[in-house]
Amino acid sequence: MSTITFNPGSRTWLLSMPRSSYAFQLDAADVPRHLHWGEPLTLDQVEALPHTYRPGRGDSFAGARLTEEIAVDGGTRYGVPGLQVRFADGTRALEWAYVDHEIAEAEGALSLAVHMRDRHYPLAITLRYRVFHDGDVIERSLTLDHIGDDGAESAISVLRADSGAWSLPARAGYRVGHVTGDWAAENQLRQDALPWGETVFGSRRGITGHQANPWVMLDAGDADEQHGQVWSVALAWSGTWRITTQRGTDNRVQLTGGFGHDGVSWQLAPGESLTTPPILGLYSGAGFGAASRTWHDHVLRHVLPRPEEMRPVLYNSWEATGFDVDEAGQRKLAAQAAALGVELFVMDDGWFGTRTSDHAGLGDWAPNPERFPDGLAPLIDEVHRLGMAFGLWVEPEMVNPDSRLYRRHPEWVLHYEHRQRTELRNQLVLNFARPDVAAWAHGWLDRLVTEHAIDFLKWDMNRSFSEAGWPEHGSDGQADRLWIDHVRNVYAIIDRLRADHPNLRIEACSGGGGRIDLGMLSRTDQVWPSDNTDALDRLSIQHGFTQIYPARVMSAWVTDSPNPATGRTIPLRFRCHAAMAGIMALGGNLAEWNEQDLHDVAQEIAHYKDIRATVQLGARYRLSDPTDPSGLTAVQYTSSDRAETIVFAWQPTRPIGREPGPVRLADLDPGSRYRDRASGREYDAVLLGEYGLPLDLPSGDYASSLTVLDRISPTH
Ligand code: DGJ
Repeated sequence: MSTITFNPGSRTWLLSMPRSSYAFQLDAADVPRHLHWGEPLTLDQVEALPHTYRPGRGDSFAGARLTEEIAVDGGTRYGVPGLQVRFADGTRALEWAYVDHEIAEAEGALSLAVHMRDRHYPLAITLRYRVFHDGDVIERSLTLDHIGDDGAESAISVLRADSGAWSLPARAGYRVGHVTGDWAAENQLRQDALPWGETVFGSRRGITGHQANPWVMLDAGDADEQHGQVWSVALAWSGTWRITTQRGTDNRVQLTGGFGHDGVSWQLAPGESLTTPPILGLYSGAGFGAASRTWHDHVLRHVLPRPEEMRPVLYNSWEATGFDVDEAGQRKLAAQAAALGVELFVMDDGWFGTRTSDHAGLGDWAPNPERFPDGLAPLIDEVHRLGMAFGLWVEPEMVNPDSRLYRRHPEWVLHYEHRQRTELRNQLVLNFARPDVAAWAHGWLDRLVTEHAIDFLKWDMNRSFSEAGWPEHGSDGQADRLWIDHVRNVYAIIDRLRADHPNLRIEACSGGGGRIDLGMLSRTDQVWPSDNTDALDRLSIQHGFTQIYPARVMSAWVTDSPNPATGRTIPLRFRCHAAMAGIMALGGNLAEWNEQDLHDVAQEIAHYKDIRATVQLGARYRLSDPTDPSGLTAVQYTSSDRAETIVFAWQPTRPIGREPGPVRLADLDPGSRYRDRASGREYDAVLLGEYGLPLDLPSGDYASSLTVLDRISPTH
């Protein structure tokens, strides 16, 4: 059970979670000062902290005090402001005044709202915290309310509104874990020494971005998979964002993060309110592996809309057909997919308007009459008759200039009057912040799903913002709102579609993994991590992806060999094993596959269905990661009752003179024996932990194995 305690005497709040605690306190000037985030401490202990550990020098040139719960702008603060406002008279420095607080319990979580305001100006600031009874994640956000009534001229400019700041104790060897990437190369895990000064992670693209993902994981330089203190923070937002780490010369660290990027502001008129998206923090005292597993549990229990549902094996037509989509071709693919055991058939891009290439048609969301003379219904019926659900690709936020929509509404795109409209992939971004655009998008999507038996949408988004203007609001200072309202309206449309069509499932995609974050995951069922379907590349993409996000949302297609993007030839077994470690799916041109491969992939799909509950819901242990010098990547999934354990191993090239493995398994039931379901070999759980599981890898390059172990009996 988690608790939230308040001591009115010292004005201290203590958030106690199962394996960690978090505390802060109002100082004499009402500044909410961070006290502790880490191992479980009592109220007495956290209250002793400020007396025992002095906050630092107070002279004119002292370093920034990195301890404010939200670092506001002004006074003698010199760190990165997480809350920066400018009042109508030009005053910028904010001064805190405490009002009151509330603690409430709802839906398995406890929440705390600390109501503050500016000492003089009509700005109320609420610091929000939520903790859950079954884990150590703390969710935070901020609400700003303009509580004045002096007319529009008293609008407050919000220059920066982070969701929260996170202060870490002094440690000498801080490192920061994060992912970098690119299109087709997302989620490359890095671990760097944390620089002194300020380091910024973020996106200015209007989407979460391929280049970084909104989370960081810090440790004191001594953590590993099983041991050590790890502090991680993740933002639930799908637009532009920024997380800044600040490391002081005293080796204290503060992270501050939230939506928006440099130079963008928000005008808060009297009576208006601005609430930031949640930022989530997690402390783990048991290494990176435990941190990742706690994030996975949290996403499964508190983020995903339908966590309990088994994700189906899907087939997607994109790599088979590109834009060459028609009813006959899709029927043929559907029949082939159904015969292999596929459960959900997804028709990708090219089914609508004049979309026969990426040059035209985006925005005209009616089936192409030449390709689908009787509309989509005959194909959908056929897919259902074959026993599969039907899914459809859409890209609602985009328009090709060569489209009926653009010719009718050139004003609907992001643009400035006197600037060029830069096209990327021959398309422009519709301004979803506009109520008329959002209503139009919701209208056609709702009609599409109402009029057709569509079970699943793949919601794509294939370019970054540019020339992000909204000329109607050019002079009133409100145009910048589009950066936030675009995302909010994407969220609102998805939420409304889901509410009105409860059986509809949604996959998030943005040119592969360009918009994956906890915000998107709270309203979608799975995500497309990358357009790179090469199984070797996928191992590192999946390694980075699963630092925070669980296998249950990680779609992975088995595609053709040689891979169309990389040209690499990889045996089917290795390709299947890479996909089976997430949500297994197919994406190749099945007409070109030989009988043997079709037979083998059908068997692997059947096998996956047997084990997917443990893959999608079990605890994930990284036994050997893709950067290991041995070249071996191995992961283990264990069911919550520890009755089933699955071990995947991939050895892309064989080291000379050494057999790969055994790999030591984690967290098995120590009093039990386990039996290999395929070979019947039995193992003692303790020996599997101490000496490891021998690997049955075939010889040659791209060797892989999948071992399923069943717990058979206690040893005593
Ligand atoms: C980008 C996606 O990531 C691909 O899977 C595919 O849907 C294309 N867009 C279609 O244009």
